[in-house]
Order: sequence, then C-alpha cells, then structure tokens
Amino acid sequence: MNTLFDKLQIGNIELSNRIVYAPMTRSRADDEGVQPEFVAEYYGQRATAGLLITEATNVSAMAKGYVRTPGMYTEEQIESWRTVTDRVHADGGRIFMQIFHTGRIALPDFLPAGTEPVAPSAVAAEGQNYTDAGMKEFVVPRELEIEEVKAIVGEFATAAGNAIKAGFDGVEIHGANGYLIQQFLSTNVNLRTDEYGGSIENRSRFLLEIVDAVAAEIGWERTGLRLSPGGEFNDIKEDYAEELYDYVIDELNKRKLAYLHIGTFDQNRDWHPVIRPKYDGIYLAGVGFDKERGEKTLAEGGADAIVYGKLFLANPDLPERFRRNAPLNEWDDSTFYTPGEKGYTDYPTLEQAASAGK
Ligand SMILES: Cc1cc2nc3c(=O)[nH]c(=O)nc-3n(C[C@H](O)[C@H](O)[C@H](O)COP(=O)(O)O)c2cc1C
Repeated sequence: MNTLFDKLQIGNIELSNRIVYAPMTRSRADDEGVQPEFVAEYYGQRATAGLLITEATNVSAMAKGYVRTPGMYTEEQIESWRTVTDRVHADGGRIFMQIFHTGRIALPDFLPAGTEPVAPSAVAAEGQNYTDAGMKEFVVPRELEIEEVKAIVGEFATAAGNAIKAGFDGVEIHGANGYLIQQFLSTNVNLRTDEYGGSIENRSRFLLEIVDAVAAEIGWERTGLRLSPGGEFNDIKEDYAEELYDYVIDELNKRKLAYLHIGTFDQNRDWHPVIRPKYDGIYLAGVGFDKERGEKTLAEGGADAIVYGKLFLANPDLPERFRRNAPLNEWDDSTFYTPGEKGYTDYPTLEQAASAGK
C-alpha cells in the first residue's frame, strides 16, 4: 500500500515522495518571456515536492496566450530557466517543464505584430481573456495549414530539447485545458477534413506526433504528458470523450512515457477511475486533492502520485505540513497572475510562521 511519503521511480529518476507540484501559470516573466531571478527562489522554496512541474511555457512566439508567460525558444529564455533548475537541484528537488501552445486562446495582443491566433479550424472560443488593458473577447483564429501543423510538432520537440539543455529532468507536454492539443482532440474546434480532423484517429494525430517527436528528441524516460479528458475549460467539447480517450490511452500504452498526468475540471464526472485502470504506466492524479483524498487514492491504487495545485502554491513546505498534520496557509487568488514577488515568494513555511509569531 503506497503513501504520500513513499519514493517513486519515474523514467531514470527517483522521486523522494509522491507529492507533485502542479503546473501553474504565475505570469512573472518579462515581455520577452525571460524569467526574473526571483523565479528560482519560488521553485526552490517548493523543492521538497517529489516532483515540480513548471508553469506552462510557450514553445514559440505564436504559442503565447497570457501576459508575462515564459518561453523556451530563445537563448535568453533558456538561460533564465537554468537558474531555476540549478536552484531546485541544489535543494534536492526534481523538476519537469510543462510546454504548450495556446492556439485560439491567444489574443493578438500577445502575438508578434501582424499575426493572429491559430487553431485547427477558424472557430472562436466563447469568452474573454485577461490583458493589462482589461478583459478582451477571444477572436476568430486562422486555420492552420498542414505544413504549419507539422512545424508546430517540431517546435514542441525543439522546446523540449532546450528544456534539457537548461537542466530540466524532463518535460510535460500540455495536452489539457483547451489549448492547441486539446483543440485538435475536440469536436467543436477541429472541423478539419484532412488527416488531422474527422475520425478519432485523425483528431489524435497531432497529440501523438508531438509525443513521438518530443520523445525522439529527449527520450521516453524524460517525456510526460498532461490530459484533461472530457474537460470543457476554454470552451472545449469532446463528443464521445470516453471513446476518444480509449483510443488515446491504447496508443499511449504502446509508448513508454515517464508518466501520464490526468487532471480534468469536470463537476459531473471523476475521470481518474475511468482512465487509471486502462493506463499501464505511471499515473499522476490531480485537481481537487487534499491530504486525506490523496492518501486514500494512493492506498487504493488509484494513482502513483498526487498533484497538488493551490494548496502547494500557498504552502511552500506542503510535504512537511502534511507529515505533521499542520495547519495550512490560504491562497490569495488576487496575486495569482500579478507581477513581482508579492503573493509569490512570500507564503511562509511553518518555521517562518512560528518565528514571526514569537
Ligand atoms: C494560478 C493557476 C495557474 C494554473 N496554470 C496552469 C498551467 O499553466 N498548466 C496547467 O496544466 N494547469 C494549470 N492550472 C491548473 C492546475 O495545474 C491544477 O490542475 C488546478 O489548480 C487544480 O488543482 P488543485 O485543486 O490542487 O488546485 C493552474 C491553476 C491555477 C490555480
């Protein structure tokens, strides 16, 4: 029976526990997608996680969908991440970089001048996205040409190679939460009639090509993947989602990922009991876990490790607090995406809270 504090082997590395830090966008980078130095402090503070997964990081300038998000496609960006990996490793941690392309969730505000967001088909997302000039409606994206689809597969592989150059232990491909990969998987954004659209097999092609290209670049033992089966975040619809993910999981079982991370925002359904039994490899379960639910899930074999988001964001020493059954800091959502160190590196550990109270 596994506990949160047991070791776990993923690929060639050993995690010291089964508490994983969730990928979370924090919008502290500069306009060039370069991380400031204090980002190393932030990740370093959380290095007692068995594994840290970084915020979603852009594979190209066209991938950028949010203000102040970092990139992994220029020398300056790679260098700025090197400080983070050095710090986490010095503190005894392990860290994977999450890489993504936002597709139609980008606004022209974030993209190179004269370009527009791209997607499998010219279907706008309903809703709005945050900019420093206020909320703005999503726009109708431009349908990608087939050569462009293949070029983006290559960008994921290049960004993954850059992550390894910057010292990351591996990469998590972001196939979840309504970004470009899930836009291809969907039935409402992908209306293509070529080899990337229509059948389940065709809609999964972009995902699987990226998985294979990244693994060819950095090795299966360093390649992780996040999916959100049935997730509707960012105005996604996946008709017959269970059939779609049956196929995807069958295909992933033929490969040897370091891990599969499943985390779906779905009020109506818990997808872990659907996907876990079908998947042969290391399974990370996320979204809505506290200590008790995490322990129960591990004990029942419902996952190999548990991914904690907001609880870990607000408690840099979450593993220690879990170990001691200590009280937890509350998170402050007003500083999730604001620039600077406030609400970022200033959540106290138990020790800091105790000495401040003296
Ligand atoms: C501030 C914030 C930023 C997030 N950014 C990302 C992201 O970049 N990539 C991603 O896969 N999920 C992202 N998520 C989702 C989290 O990884 C996680 O799934 C979510 O917080 C639910 O888990 P929790 O209930 O443990 O917080 C974000 C969540 C929050 C709160």
